[in-house]
Amino acid sequence: MNGLKRPRRLRVNQSMRDLVAENRLSLNDLITPLFVIEGKGQEHEIPSMPGYFKQSLDLTIEEVKKLYGMGLKSVLLFVQVRESLKDNKGEEAMNAEGLMQQTVRAIKSAVPQMVVMTDVALDPYSSWGHDGIVQDGEVVNDPTVEVLAEIALSHAHAGADIVAPSDMMDGRIAAIRKRLDSEGFHNTGIMSYSVKYASSFYGPFRDALDSKPGFGDKKTYQMNPANSIEGVKEALLDIEEGADIVMVKPGLPYLDMVLRVKEVSEVPVSAYHVSGEYAMVKAAAEKGWIDEDAVILESLLSFKRAGADLIATYFSRDAVRILKNTEL
Ligand code: PBG
Repeated sequence: MNGLKRPRRLRVNQSMRDLVAENRLSLNDLITPLFVIEGKGQEHEIPSMPGYFKQSLDLTIEEVKKLYGMGLKSVLLFVQVRESLKDNKGEEAMNAEGLMQQTVRAIKSAVPQMVVMTDVALDPYSSWGHDGIVQDGEVVNDPTVEVLAEIALSHAHAGADIVAPSDMMDGRIAAIRKRLDSEGFHNTGIMSYSVKYASSFYGPFRDALDSKPGFGDKKTYQMNPANSIEGVKEALLDIEEGADIVMVKPGLPYLDMVLRVKEVSEVPVSAYHVSGEYAMVKAAAEKGWIDEDAVILESLLSFKRAGADLIATYFSRDAVRILKNTEL
């Protein structure tokens, strides 16, 4: 055994392990998704996301104050509007007095330091539940891109720091950048859902917002889970078009893509730890089959190891609590 290389030497105790740890989880990197609903004093737990709530604007403001107080720096907003406001073009999504726009204004005035990111997509507003305009049974690209640029502009007017298009239409980053710049919003950033797969892990999210597609699926715009080179292409295109941050989604099953994109990206890479991943951890923990806190911590750390600069996760509040009691 003379001269044997002994990697275990660096694992002898916690201090030594801390000293040589290659990655660390930080609250600075976490993005908290929030679901906003109409009304006042409203709060509903999402059945397939135990412990996660959709809340009306007034309660959302209180929540954002709490989150900022806990050390979380960013929220990603989704809204649910009533059926009667939905149409094929998502007209309501551009309404300056719409729920998203009101929420952004209210958060930026209550907690100006919170980085407010907005979901730019048609599906919560689409009578078809699709991320684009439907013509003859098809989700059409270019007319959708025009609408997305207007939606993004209305979010910028309301005070959004970053708009986050989650639709996967071609060319929307360039169109949004151009539209924002045309009205002087040079400092409004774009976080693009660049590498977004047609995934079954979004199920609980679609329950939450009642945004399931009314016909077919999203496979003509979201990516085939079989593909990786195509994901690199998508990320590079979005960077070229002006994305400030590129995202990979879902999370853990696609960490290979986080790494691949990180290797070629000159902008920060984010990863979305999605609703179905949250639901799986909650379900197994409820049965007592896993140690919930340990699994949360290990999962979030794995995103960092894969190269994610930012992580959108429904576990951000848990992370705050767990990190307080744990040394990483
Ligand atoms: C839709 C959108 C989805 C999610 C974020 N934006 C669902 C979809 O594409 O159908 C999923 C997030 C999650 O599952 O946590 N624009």
